[in-house]
This record gives sequence, C-alpha cells and structure tokens, in this order.
Amino acid sequence: MKNTVLTFAKAKKEKTKVSMLTAYDYSTAKLINDAGINSILVGDSLGNVMLGYEDTISVTMEDMIHHTKAVSRGAKDALVVADMPFMSYQTSVYDAVVNAGRLMKEGRANAVKLEGGREVCPQIKAIVEAGIPVCAHIGLTPQSINALGGNKVQGKTEAAARKLLEDALAVQEAGAFAVVIEAVPEKLAALITEKLDIVTIGIGAGNGCDGQVLVYQDMLGMFSDFTPRFVKKYASLGELMTAAFQQYDEEVKSAAFPAAEHTYKMDDDVIEKLY
Ligand code: KIV
Repeated sequence: MKNTVLTFAKAKKEKTKVSMLTAYDYSTAKLINDAGINSILVGDSLGNVMLGYEDTISVTMEDMIHHTKAVSRGAKDALVVADMPFMSYQTSVYDAVVNAGRLMKEGRANAVKLEGGREVCPQIKAIVEAGIPVCAHIGLTPQSINALGGNKVQGKTEAAARKLLEDALAVQEAGAFAVVIEAVPEKLAALITEKLDIVTIGIGAGNGCDGQVLVYQDMLGMFSDFTPRFVKKYASLGELMTAAFQQYDEEVKSAAFPAAEHTYKMDDDVIEKLY
C-alpha cells in the first residue's frame, strides 16, 4: 500500500517508527521499496554520491527532476520526497512554489524537502497552501555549509538548542508534515520529538526521533570519500563490487569470459556459407 503523509501522521500517533533511505535511480528505488521502507528521499546528497561534487551547492533543479523521475517509477509504495536544491527556494516564495511544483509535476514526487527553520517558513506555508506536502530539515543543513563553517554538530549550546527547538515548532506551524533533524545531540532531538506533533526523522540525531534516514551508499559501504560518525554500515558492497570488477577485468583479459553459456549459437552450415 502507498505510504502517504497520513502514514506519517498515524506513525506519530501510534508511536511507531518511520524508515527512510535515499535513492537516486529506478533499480535502487525498487529494491528499497520492496524491502518495505516507508519513504525514499531523493536527496541533494546526489551531488556527493552520484555526481562527485564535494558538497550539495552545485545541484540543480534539472538534476533533481531527472533523478526524482527515475525514483518515482521504482517507488510503488514508498513516499517519494524530493529535495529542493540550493537557491531553488531561498530566493523567493514565488520561486519556492514554482520549483516545488516542478518536482511534483515533472518528477512525480509525493512531497518536497527544504532546509532551514523560521527563515523559510513563508516558503513552507506557500508550498503547503499549493497542495504540496513539505518535509523540513533543521540542524546541520548541508546547503549552508559555507555559513556553518563545515559539517559540525548543531545545537550544543543553550542558545543554539533553543533556536533549534523554536525552528522545529515554526516549521510545524508553517505546515510541514515532517522534519529531518541532522547532526544534533540525541537529548535535544528527543526533546524536539516530544514537543512536536509531526514526525521527526533523525540522521545523526539519536534514537529518540520518530524515524531515521541514511544515504544508501553510506549504509551499504559503497561511498568512501567520507563517512560521518552516525552512519552504520549494514553491508560492505563497495568491497564486493571492486572484487567483482577485478574478476571481470581478469576474465575479459584472459578470455575466460564470455563462456559458452553466455554466447548465442547458429547453425554451422549457415556460417560456413559466408567463408
Ligand atoms: O540530501 C540528503 O540525502 C539529505 C539527507 C542527508 C537527510 O538531506
């Protein structure tokens, strides 16, 4: 059955956890969907893990639409949330609504996600009023990496913690159906979760959140450029893939591949006529 914003609301009410993973292509989305994960985030982390940028700043609307289309085709049951890339919503409320609309119309997303607290509430309100569900994102917000001075844990001082709590309440008030909390101490994320009526989805925010999200290449051990402390590796697919690529390389070069079972046959008398 298709997960919707109502699934999230029900999970909050019944205190059951929500699972979310990122995906950026059709076949991975299908595998994640078939594993029963509630939601797939087409994260702008695709800038790092798919496109090889060092941050998410250069990701464009066209990148997001292209990958969201592919994921949506594979996610029959999972709720597809598409990230709004840097400068697709910060510039104005009008830009925010137009670009959120494109991710829904062209990408076939079920919801959009944008980064920020109180300062993006006018955008959240307008997008929600246009009939588009919004997931907010507070704490470490990678699009603001230059302003934050790096990938640092957020909300450790009283003032910063208070601001995060106020931001969480503000995005809820603006109409967000969920909020991602990234790189925030466990106790603060748990307190925010307790105070909110909407689902909190943690990434590096401890077990007190209503749900969790990870980048799939991180949890499968496929991405080694950097691995944040909060990532649990559920598999070492990177090593398996490299070993398989090496074996393929050896077999191509030794002519062990392709073997008879990988080869199409034809009648000898047909080929003999061509000699
Ligand atoms: O872009 C992304 O993958 C994200 C998650 C890390 C929450 O925003």
